[in-house]
Amino acid sequence: MSGMKIFAAVAMAAAIGLAGPAGAADKKSAEWNKGGGEQDEAPHLTPDLENGLEVYEVCAACHLPEGWGKPDGTFPQLAGQHFKVIIKQLADIRAQNRDNPTMYPFALPKSIGGAQAIADVSGYIAKLPMNPEPGVGPGTDLELGAKLYKENCVRCHGENGEGIADKYYPRIQGQHFKYLVRQFEWIRDGKRRNANPDMVKQIAGFSDKDMVAVMDFVSRQKPPKELVGEPGWENPDFD
Ligand code: HEC
Ligand code: HEC
Repeated sequence: MSGMKIFAAVAMAAAIGLAGPAGAADKKSAEWNKGGGEQDEAPHLTPDLENGLEVYEVCAACHLPEGWGKPDGTFPQLAGQHFKVIIKQLADIRAQNRDNPTMYPFALPKSIGGAQAIADVSGYIAKLPMNPEPGVGPGTDLELGAKLYKENCVRCHGENGEGIADKYYPRIQGQHFKYLVRQFEWIRDGKRRNANPDMVKQIAGFSDKDMVAVMDFVSRQKPPKELVGEPGWENPDFD
């Protein structure tokens, strides 16, 4: 495996390219779930997990070999996300329905391959054990967070933040707080163009305090035990 070389090159590019979704507000909002192309094709393909690992080497430079991302929110945890959600987000990023200038050049067909490669890497990522110690919020408004969650989020993200795989509703439990807040804010303020319009409506009245409270609550929700790794687990595929 030529993992280390790729790792260093990508990490450097990442350091240079870590900008927000510049100019996103000028672009037309994308349809949230237009489907078609790779998003429809990839879920029906059988993932080749060996090739998934090969592809994932590039991703690991930012999302880390474990897929655990970073508590500072720069890179989200990917481990344990639903297979179909990973496929949709990757397809959206490739189609520029979701702006991600940091990652875009590394996610293109010419770097990683077509629909089969998407299925392979998504299959690989979905099976990685999740981070047992995600970044959490300040812990000051958890009761408010729980109340807001119950009233506004359960029907789509589930009782406990587990999401609904078949509908492309992401698992958000145990995700890093700072990443969650950024996405929530971008969805609320119209910067994440593939956002679900019903979610945008549901959260339109959320103040920044509400947002912090609900995301703090979500970051502390525990995924099912069988999906979570041991503290300090290192991905043996990256020896
Ligand atoms: C150069 C750094 C970098 C590389 C390489 C990279 N990513 Fe990302 N990725 C990011 C960043 C930054 C985000 C979050 C962007 C945002 O805040 O919207 C992200 C977001 C994602 C998301 C969305 C997660 C979610 O919860 O919605 C998926 C899926 C993803 N990456 C998969 C991959 C895969 C698969 C690869 C390899 C083919 C890859 N990434 C390579 C930086 C990177
Ligand atoms: C009508 C359904 C619906 C409701 C209600 C809803 N969401 Fe969402 N949410 C979604 C969908 C669908 C996505 C993924 C959109 C996409 O494909 O980009 C999403 C994405 C997110 C994300 C980004 C996840 C990631 O990995 O990038 C966060 C954070 C989030 N929702 C939090 C919430 C919270 C908190 C609430 C309640 C206050 C809420 N949502 C209410 C459907 C909903």
